[in-house]
Amino acid sequence: MPTFAAEDTLRLKAEAVTQQILPDGNGVTSMLGFNGSMPGPELRVRRGEPVNIDVENGLEEGTAVHWHGIRLENQMDGVPMLTQELIEPSDTKTYSFIPPDEGTYWYHSHYISYEQVARGMMGPLIVEDETPPDIDHDITVLMADWQMQEDGSLSKEFTDMHSVAHGGYMGNFARAFLSQDQVKTGDRVRFRLINAATNRIFPVAVSGVSGLVVALDGMSLSEPRPMAELTLAPAQRADLIVDVTGPVGFDMLTRQGPYRLADLAVSGTNTDRVDGPIMALSPPNLPTPTDPTQHLTLTMMGGAMGGRHDGDNIWAFNNVSDLQGDPFGSFQNGETVRITFVNDTSFPHGIHLHGHHFYEVDESGALGDLRDTTLVNAGESRDVICVFDNPGRWLIHCHMLSHAVGGMRTWVNVA
Ligand code: C2O
Ligand code: CU
Repeated sequence: MPTFAAEDTLRLKAEAVTQQILPDGNGVTSMLGFNGSMPGPELRVRRGEPVNIDVENGLEEGTAVHWHGIRLENQMDGVPMLTQELIEPSDTKTYSFIPPDEGTYWYHSHYISYEQVARGMMGPLIVEDETPPDIDHDITVLMADWQMQEDGSLSKEFTDMHSVAHGGYMGNFARAFLSQDQVKTGDRVRFRLINAATNRIFPVAVSGVSGLVVALDGMSLSEPRPMAELTLAPAQRADLIVDVTGPVGFDMLTRQGPYRLADLAVSGTNTDRVDGPIMALSPPNLPTPTDPTQHLTLTMMGGAMGGRHDGDNIWAFNNVSDLQGDPFGSFQNGETVRITFVNDTSFPHGIHLHGHHFYEVDESGALGDLRDTTLVNAGESRDVICVFDNPGRWLIHCHMLSHAVGGMRTWVNVA
């Protein structure tokens, strides 16, 4: 398994790439990527050890890279205007941070991201386990979709108003990229699923395996749970540990039936493995919430078939579109806050908070899953509890990137 020594500086060069995205025999796709490939290289780092990543901008426009889900220092968060200046063409910026949590993360452009991410600026970021689970393979499964023309070129339309006001830029072609393409029957495998699509929600089914979900958004579940109804909103991740029982297929479930995203070939049989129960990964190490000192409500508004609002873009939070001078919330470092996300629109939204993980409050009112992105369906609401213990200016936005550019963005300040 490739690893990097702690003192190494990793390098990512953002640049134009040409990639075989459509099945072999079809045209290649001109897009953006890192180090000559799309998705960019899988970065593997260690918890608690300094990481330095030189990002060189080989594009003809500015860029910035966000390390999605990593609870890092604010000035390394990769958000133009809020935490850094753009990396101008041919400039390099070094991002330095110490990842505090093991798990599955990813990196992506955070500048005109509805376009740069749609064109391919994404890659996996894995914080390795100090005590790895007992598995034979650790395989990343990164999913995305694109609006392809017949010849394999990307359609040039990334922000038409119709899609921004509806579900957002949706590809007519989707697939998953695997970091490895073969296993044996009987192998125990960890799959790290990442939804890197700009707007598409992936309901996923994995065939040819039996196993459990062991982590969501990088954070281990105290009790691994069945894989039924595994749904990933844009930017969400799920880690599975499974035993291979036959040829493995990853499918997106659609109304028209399953849509194959990737196949993992199976050859040979692993006769050495003694199947024990699938155990939980090491528990997350996050601050324990206290009684909330504030309870805020963030109401999603606008879009097609949505109600009116006072913002000056298509979408709004609490009647305000886009980033304003005043934060939506101001917190003291360490404060526990309850936020109710109300979806008063006709579309689902995947709401992402930078720099923190939060607990989803479950139906019984108890602390549920730890997440950095929560999916709130049309007409529904979700309460979350967050300990704001990371000083700085942090975005909250819809990770349907068409909705974010359409106005669904705000920020909080932790002092
Ligand atoms: Cu993954 Cu603000 O984004
Ligand atoms: Cu949205």
